[in-house]
Amino acid sequence: VRRSSVQELLHSQELEREVVVKGWVRTRRGNKYVQFIAVNDGSGFHSIQVVADAERFPEEQLKADGVENGAAVMVRGKLVASQGKGQTVEIQAEEITVYGKADTETYPLQKKGHSLEFLREIAHLRPRTNTFGAVLRIRHAMAFAIHQYFNQHGFYYVHTPIVTGSDAEGAGQMFRVTTLSDQNPPLTEDKSGVDYKQDFFGKQTNLTVSGQLEAEVAAMALGKVYTFGPTFRAENSNTARHLAEFWMVEPEVAFNELQDNMDLAEDFLKSLVKYALEHCADDLQFLNEQYDKELLGRLQFVVDNDFQRLTYTEAVEILKTARQKFEFPVDWGTDLQSEHERYLVEKHFKKPVILTDYPKDIKAFYMKLNDDDKTVRAMDVLFPGIGEIIGGSQREENLEKLQARMAAMNVPEHELWWYLELRKYGTAPHAGFGLGFERLLLFVTGMANIRDVIPFPRFPKSAEF
Ligand code: 4AD
Ligand code: MG
Repeated sequence: VRRSSVQELLHSQELEREVVVKGWVRTRRGNKYVQFIAVNDGSGFHSIQVVADAERFPEEQLKADGVENGAAVMVRGKLVASQGKGQTVEIQAEEITVYGKADTETYPLQKKGHSLEFLREIAHLRPRTNTFGAVLRIRHAMAFAIHQYFNQHGFYYVHTPIVTGSDAEGAGQMFRVTTLSDQNPPLTEDKSGVDYKQDFFGKQTNLTVSGQLEAEVAAMALGKVYTFGPTFRAENSNTARHLAEFWMVEPEVAFNELQDNMDLAEDFLKSLVKYALEHCADDLQFLNEQYDKELLGRLQFVVDNDFQRLTYTEAVEILKTARQKFEFPVDWGTDLQSEHERYLVEKHFKKPVILTDYPKDIKAFYMKLNDDDKTVRAMDVLFPGIGEIIGGSQREENLEKLQARMAAMNVPEHELWWYLELRKYGTAPHAGFGLGFERLLLFVTGMANIRDVIPFPRFPKSAEF
């Protein structure tokens, strides 16, 4: 008999047939007449109930064989309609084989629920819990939906480098790349006493903080492109919304201006959330019940309502007259803190917000300068419970203006000569943005901590794996 997935069987109409499933025992309970074994194989949220008759499978025998929480098993039996509540089908066991036991005394995942903090310490086992099974399936679905969205809208997926010589954000938040190999060539240039022998074949390189600059290269040839890859930031990111290693999605579109960029961001986010509602119903239902009763309502709200668009300057006016006391004062020219962002989204507008036209001094060098000479064509998308989920802008396409911004912000031209040549040869307006993939997942899953939406989180003091 061909092996079936648990999900296949749970949705099957063909009963009274022999089936085989392989998975892990979630629970075993029952009495001296009959035992119920819940088996989950990861194919979906729900487990299938295996009914083991005591005549054939005495409880003592099941115990001796190790048919316990956590064990890997094969079950062969008959698929039948279930008498019990909560499931339509079950398997009447004819054969149960244990591939690997999980000692009930020491297995870290006990039947009782565990705290998310505890589960973070056992990243190798937490995917076996209901919560992380749900999160990981949603993570997969969102990654797939991102590729599908772009593919359907004529974007090309480009692979930008992880090891790079430039600082795309000009914020100095890079991790350096060094080597332990002694096969590096001797130093070519000597800079400020650093041992460059340990660098990337004699060059100073970093882990990328953004694929944007390389995505711009591709957009200037392919028109509509996106990247989707690991991104690294050496900010002291000990918060529930920062990781040192995260995944970023960065579309970049030639001939788009700021308005088009906002339209794209809004349509993109809505379609991703819609995809989750349509394809991750079981997992979302569980998360909604377990952690956050407003999750499903919030997701539907984002799909159904237009985002509020306003300028940074307008937002500062709102914040200055807000009744709420903020920890950080707001004044034109200061960067908004997450408390300000969340006030605008959660208290003032009560919907997602797109803020545009930030002061040039608090944004990156590549953003297009407005005619006022004070603000740039930046946009941040702010989400409830999250704050900034997307950061983007229209890019400065004028060579002289870009050079002036780089000089003013101490971004060395020799590191970005190739980026400047995009403006020298066939320059055009273009725009793009970066979506933090884990921030999207925080929103979609309703989880409170970003460390719980990535399989192996990297943050200060993370270790082990
Ligand atoms: O606003 P950021 O820094 O923008 C850029 O990197 C641009 N180059 C993007 C572009 O225009 N192509 O980062 C973009 C998004 C943020 O809005 C946030 O969602 C996420 O990346 N992000 C992080 N997510 C998790 N941990 C961190 N440390 C993050 N830093 C940024
Ligand atoms: Mg940002």
